[in-house]
Amino acid sequence: MSARERDPILSVRGLTTELRTESSRFHAVDAVSFDLFPGEVLGIVGESGCGKSMTALSILGLVPRPPGRIVAGEVWFEGRDLVRASERELQRVRGAKIAMIFQEPMSSLNPVFTIGEQIAETLRHHERLGRRAARERAVELLAKVGIPSPAERLDSYPHELSGGMRQRVMIAIALACNPKVLLADEPTTALDVTIQAQILDLLQRLQAELGMAVVIITHDLGIVAEFAHRVLVMYAGRVIEEGAVEAIFESPAHPYTRGLLASLPDLEGEIGRLSAIPGSVPQMGALGPGCRFAPRCGLVEPACLAADPPLARTGARAVACRRAALAAAPRERVA
Ligand SMILES: Nc1ncnc2c1ncn2[C@@H]1O[C@H](COP(=O)(O)OP(=O)(O)O)[C@@H](O)[C@H]1O
Ligand SMILES: [Mg+2]
Repeated sequence: MSARERDPILSVRGLTTELRTESSRFHAVDAVSFDLFPGEVLGIVGESGCGKSMTALSILGLVPRPPGRIVAGEVWFEGRDLVRASERELQRVRGAKIAMIFQEPMSSLNPVFTIGEQIAETLRHHERLGRRAARERAVELLAKVGIPSPAERLDSYPHELSGGMRQRVMIAIALACNPKVLLADEPTTALDVTIQAQILDLLQRLQAELGMAVVIITHDLGIVAEFAHRVLVMYAGRVIEEGAVEAIFESPAHPYTRGLLASLPDLEGEIGRLSAIPGSVPQMGALGPGCRFAPRCGLVEPACLAADPPLARTGARAVACRRAALAAAPRERVA
């Protein structure tokens, strides 16, 4: 892809975020590295609890502390390592240059302020717009995200809007300062299927129009297939596979990725034969020395339990699996 010829806009290196609870202490994000290129859409996919949200929060310095803390790694953006940036520097980046759509739309809008006030707040804070200019820009933004009668809607409170409309408002707030990077954490998960498709269309259209780089976080590979150029598959805090979307869909190399793909509905909407991967994401506080996926893996052999395989890179593809060569058979043959 042509974007790859340029320098990355965001470079994450060995990012490691520790969570401490009363009973355990673990790396919710474990040595995660990736580049995001200008104009690129990168999908981060994995089941619930794999560390996707924690990765996004770590990038922006928003890990709740306690229980969380970044213990290693770097996040390079515009010549600066955000992990080492001051809170003041981070505040200038957050929302303005790197915007985030949070996983829970209801908890991210403040119920006691109108949506107009909430958009204007962002504009006044980052762009230093006056009251009137902020209001005009807020109307433009609401129109851009497809909210009907935007001028009247400015005076609505969040509870007066449907889930889909609230998510459009969240997108408007995220786009208010023309960010270079948008981190969208499960932006459609809370919505019903028809509205999900509309919001995804909207994000796709805005991404193309504004040329933003987007990280789309989802547990749904269908969304990745539709929207992303490249994908990182996360499992239990680690990246276990990375590649161009076509390559991953054509020949998934990690048994976990294969399981996720097999769970996708086919064209007729039937859930794949292998449907869900057996078992569940492990308790992060109680990981053994071996591959984190081994307890659920159909290809497991004794050596898999001895050491966690590193992410091995070949060109644009990377996979962390000792059995990858076997697993990377074309999808039809292994399914
Ligand atoms: N505030 C928190 N306190 C304790 N553990 C947390 C907290 N937030 C997330 N976790 C744990 O961190 C791990 C990663 O969570 P998260 O990043 O939210 O996963 P995902 O977004 O992939 O569903 C999980 O084991 C989750 O239980
Ligand atoms: Mg999450």
